[in-house]
Amino acid sequence: MVFETNITKMLGIKHPIVAAPMGPFYTTKLAVAVSEAGGLGVISHTNMYGKDSFKQMKEDMTYIVEHTDKPFGFNIRTGRMQLDAQNLCRNVPKFIMNNPKIKEQCVYVITSAGSSKLIYTKPFQRLRESGSNIKHFHVAPALWLADKCVATGVDGMVITGGEGGGHQSYEKVSSLVLLQQVRQKHPDMPIIACGGFATGEGLAAALSMGAGAIAMGSRFIASKESEFHPDYKDIVPPARAQDTVLVTGFLGPIRLWKNKYAAHHGLVASKEEKMAEEQGLSLQQVLEEGKYYEMIYDGNMDDGAVLLGQSIGIMKSIRSVSEIINTIVSDAEKCLKHANTLIN
Ligand SMILES: Cc1cc2nc3c(=O)[nH]c(=O)nc-3n(C[C@H](O)[C@H](O)[C@H](O)COP(=O)(O)O)c2cc1C
Repeated sequence: MVFETNITKMLGIKHPIVAAPMGPFYTTKLAVAVSEAGGLGVISHTNMYGKDSFKQMKEDMTYIVEHTDKPFGFNIRTGRMQLDAQNLCRNVPKFIMNNPKIKEQCVYVITSAGSSKLIYTKPFQRLRESGSNIKHFHVAPALWLADKCVATGVDGMVITGGEGGGHQSYEKVSSLVLLQQVRQKHPDMPIIACGGFATGEGLAAALSMGAGAIAMGSRFIASKESEFHPDYKDIVPPARAQDTVLVTGFLGPIRLWKNKYAAHHGLVASKEEKMAEEQGLSLQQVLEEGKYYEMIYDGNMDDGAVLLGQSIGIMKSIRSVSEIINTIVSDAEKCLKHANTLIN
């Protein structure tokens, strides 16, 4: 069974399932597994342990095309605190342009956590004009941000509701409501639904509501192939949906698993409050925030920031990526067939 949607056609993938980016962690092997299983694997924006993010991105893209011939994408976080964003927006398109196999397979750049315009550098425009099939999506976690994406001229949007893991908006609107808001206002925009999706029921709901695919983060963390520490993965099967909390992170609100780190971090109410807080920070303090992610990557689940979404309450096991994708697709088919029987 294959679902053919505007997103599967646009990105040349078999199944309407996309890996959500999960920087600063590595998701390169995970991306290979997702692309090989018929979804779209996505390289995260990462610069852990002080490594240069452009160098890392080049290595990751090279690794991907050495391990799969299928399409893939990558993320650049364009937030104002993301000091390497401009460099990546200029240099990654140049790198893609000079590598024919990467150019052929790299079909998706997803920008997030900042401006949707930053990627429109000369090298990116040149890449697009040179016959690349790359599409630009931006993460919109609120309706006003979706409006901005449309004004920018993006090819599509990742509509991410407040139940999702990791980076969030101050509005905290759920995926269910946000998806409907965006569909009402921008009915023709290609949409990937994100935040809280982990099952066939979720995929069926998203497709019924006009999205062309779902993107998942937490579900793929708890996969055999993901690079996350085994202790990180093990949090997921017994966890409950209520075991996460929103706190203020480096780029804005983030949803975390409730641990010692989360208990000692509050949530600022607005972007203005966050910007005022940033004024008091030295560059050193900003850079030090990264160590809370490195800790987790190294297996310290108490003291670091364990990014996870409420969907941890609806997955009971760590499975292979292909099992995850195939089960979601066949369960979504059952749901939609059942829904069809309700129509007289
Ligand atoms: C560990 C982790 C790291 C994340 N890092 C990023 C990131 O670097 N860039 C980004 O746009 N979103 C990031 N996110 C958000 C995800 O892309 C996605 O929106 C979220 O996982 C969706 O919710 P789900 O976890 O319920 O699937 C992260 C999420 C997690 C769980």
